[in-house]
Amino acid sequence: MRPAIRPAVADDLAALVALDGTCFGSEAWSAAAWADEFERLTEDRVVLVADDGSVVGYVVLLLPPVELDVVEVLRIAVAPARRRTGIGGQLLTIALERCAGRTVLLEVAAGNESARALYAGFGFAEISRRRGYYAGGEDAVIMRWREET
Ligand SMILES: CC(C)(COP(=O)(O)OP(=O)(O)OC[C@H]1O[C@@H](n2cnc3c(N)ncnc32)[C@H](O)[C@@H]1OP(=O)(O)O)[C@@H](O)C(=O)NCCC(=O)NCCS
Repeated sequence: MRPAIRPAVADDLAALVALDGTCFGSEAWSAAAWADEFERLTEDRVVLVADDGSVVGYVVLLLPPVELDVVEVLRIAVAPARRRTGIGGQLLTIALERCAGRTVLLEVAAGNESARALYAGFGFAEISRRRGYYAGGEDAVIMRWREET
């Protein structure tokens, strides 16, 4: 069954904290950081979840109200047992529909092959790197998307 993609609601907070911990381990956002994202939903954040009875994936966008400002994909993840079934793509499709006409940036670890493949499939292109940006010395790759016209 394909999950529904919907905006996150306050009741999703605990599930998001738990799933983020599963997906990112020591790099996970704290419960307080997630609560802060929810506080900013009326300002410049979009949090979408993939829901098939429980939260199995999510994406977080920084979407400033000023059209000229770049959008950033801050986070996207899918529950390990549900990966490679199209949910990440579903989330990104709906997220990018919100970004018509805008420039979207994201940052991804150079060695994160699955995420880089996902982004490349949507037309994100590498535009620069931050050398040795991550703990352990891994590069951060900056990727950009613009709606094809
Ligand atoms: C990156 C991530 C969100 C992808 O989610 P997903 O639901 O597995 O992605 P999809 O099933 O929609 O895959 C879409 C496409 O991405 C690419 N892709 C995804 N996972 C891949 C993998 N492990 N290897 C190669 N390509 C992969 C493929 O092109 C795939 O299309 P295909 O299955 O038709 O070949 C998921 O792997 C994840 O949660 N990773 C951990 C968190 C993370 O690193 N997030 C990104 C950094 S913020």
